[in-house]
Amino acid sequence: MCGIVGYVSDSGLEVEDLIWGLKKLEYRGYDSAGIAYNSDHSIKYLKKSGKISEIEKALVEQNILKESFYSGIAHTRWATHGVVSETNSHPHLDCKKEIAVIHNGIIENFQELRNYLEKRGHMFTSQTDSEVIAHLIEDNYKADIFEAVLKSLKELKGTYAIAVIHKDRPDEIVAARKGSPLVISHSKNMGMLASDVTPLLKYSKEMNFLNDGEIAVIFPGNYKIYDLKGNLIDRKSISISWDETLAEKSGYPHFMLKEIFEQPNSLKSVLVGRLVDSEPKVKEIESLEDFVKNRMKKIYVVACGTSYHAGLTTKYFTNKYSDIDFEIEVASEFRYMNPPIDDKTLVLAISQSGETIDTLEGVRKSKEKEAYILTISNVVGSTIPRESDAVLYLNTGPEIGVAATKTYTAQIALLYTLVSQIIYWKNGKSKEIEDILKHLKDMPKVYDEILNKTNGHMMDLVKKYKDFKDMMYIGRRFGYPAALEGALKLKEISYINAIAYQAGELKHGPIALLDETFPVFAIVPSGNLREKMISNIMEVKARGAKVIALTPENDKQTKNICDDFINIPDLPDCLIPLVVAPITQLFAYYIALEKNLDPDKPRNLAKSVTVE
Ligand code: F6R
Repeated sequence: MCGIVGYVSDSGLEVEDLIWGLKKLEYRGYDSAGIAYNSDHSIKYLKKSGKISEIEKALVEQNILKESFYSGIAHTRWATHGVVSETNSHPHLDCKKEIAVIHNGIIENFQELRNYLEKRGHMFTSQTDSEVIAHLIEDNYKADIFEAVLKSLKELKGTYAIAVIHKDRPDEIVAARKGSPLVISHSKNMGMLASDVTPLLKYSKEMNFLNDGEIAVIFPGNYKIYDLKGNLIDRKSISISWDETLAEKSGYPHFMLKEIFEQPNSLKSVLVGRLVDSEPKVKEIESLEDFVKNRMKKIYVVACGTSYHAGLTTKYFTNKYSDIDFEIEVASEFRYMNPPIDDKTLVLAISQSGETIDTLEGVRKSKEKEAYILTISNVVGSTIPRESDAVLYLNTGPEIGVAATKTYTAQIALLYTLVSQIIYWKNGKSKEIEDILKHLKDMPKVYDEILNKTNGHMMDLVKKYKDFKDMMYIGRRFGYPAALEGALKLKEISYINAIAYQAGELKHGPIALLDETFPVFAIVPSGNLREKMISNIMEVKARGAKVIALTPENDKQTKNICDDFINIPDLPDCLIPLVVAPITQLFAYYIALEKNLDPDKPRNLAKSVTVE
């Protein structure tokens, strides 16, 4: 989704620094980019469709990459209103080119405002909703840019994170937030803002996350936050422990591969202090104990995409080991439902980014219904955790690749531990769960083995499958969410039409699709459903489709009937989604490479989905 960044300094920043900040936001997904900066008492700007490297190239050609500036803002756009083009890219300027604005979000009343401003003589150049902000501020400007922005915000409907510079105020950036994330910070000589912490970590670890309805003025070495009435807000910053180097590739060709290989560590980090000697001890939520023991009647998960798959896996887990009522809905549906929740419901909001708008609205709806809201997120200080009653962070370090990998497996590990804790509180300890938790504790080691064994094999395997246009993933019980997630990974980064079904559903329709052009990825763990899976594979083979099976090493029978196989450890069924994930992630990654696609930046996708 759009990314914004801005720096203001009294000690000679160069345009190149702005480009550096912009590149840190690339992973969020974008289709065009632009910069504007204050230099020699005028606003200079440059916008391009396509990659940030296009801007860089133009700056080099014009010999201004090293030009110094005082305040500068930069933007990666992900088109919503208006086609992808240079004119529609941000920053947007007012008629006199004295004010530059970048915006993330959607202005719902832009047409009304545009009509009004055009009648007052403003000349628009783009098709975007965002350009009205620049003209509105110009219209309201009477020698004070802060006052002009403040007045304009009151006329805007919709969502925004904005940053504004004025040619006469090279020492400040005005920023505001409603519905779209914005974090501000300062170092000794700099002030800064961005959509997330990645372009700021190099300069400071102290972050202040703006709330909806707040406006900030950012100076070199300082900032001030106000509410929309202009009252000063005194809020302490939060220290972020992420290291800037964590957001680098560390020698891997792509963030996605780096993040897949970080999983042994991220699984350790998410469980440390929470799973102690196979006992769930999630201390951060001790306050939840009373609620669970005396009030809770139901758990309800609200999430999107991969986070939803982690939630679905947890539903199967809870259902297997307890009688606790557990429901789940994708957040984009939940927010428009009349969900059966009340003050006896524990709502688990799962969101890696902590910013997904649908999940956020789901949380707000749950709040109206007085549910207890516990969020699972990876981003400290992000919006969903701040609007929840309690939060558990994944502690995996930043995930830069657009496709969720390490955060997904950390979500499952944390959710299993959390739900085990809840089951213990409700029903007392269980030997069966203890056994699972022992395996969970060992998962980092298991991951080391899976990754080492599978990586080389996968590079050969994908050569056979890269040219297929369709692919189906099938599984039963815990194999089903694993299939859903495998298919999602493949479709989002390789653009292969990958679909997932419960294997038992094949004969109710999907099997009609299958022939030699439609390979099937079958998840076949040992256990009581193995025979059923083998029957399904036979049905698939009878239609001429190739089958890749994920099976334990000793399952010769399955291997004999399949075209290809990948070994998975023979573990209890609830751990299948965990052991399958790194394999399907690697499969998707290498298919994307074979097809010359960039797995870190899939087309049309954004890391943080902050618009509906
Ligand atoms: C898929 C993926 C998305 C996200 C979804 C929710 O790889 O990354 O499906 O899982 O957009 O995002 P969060 O977890 O940030 O709410």
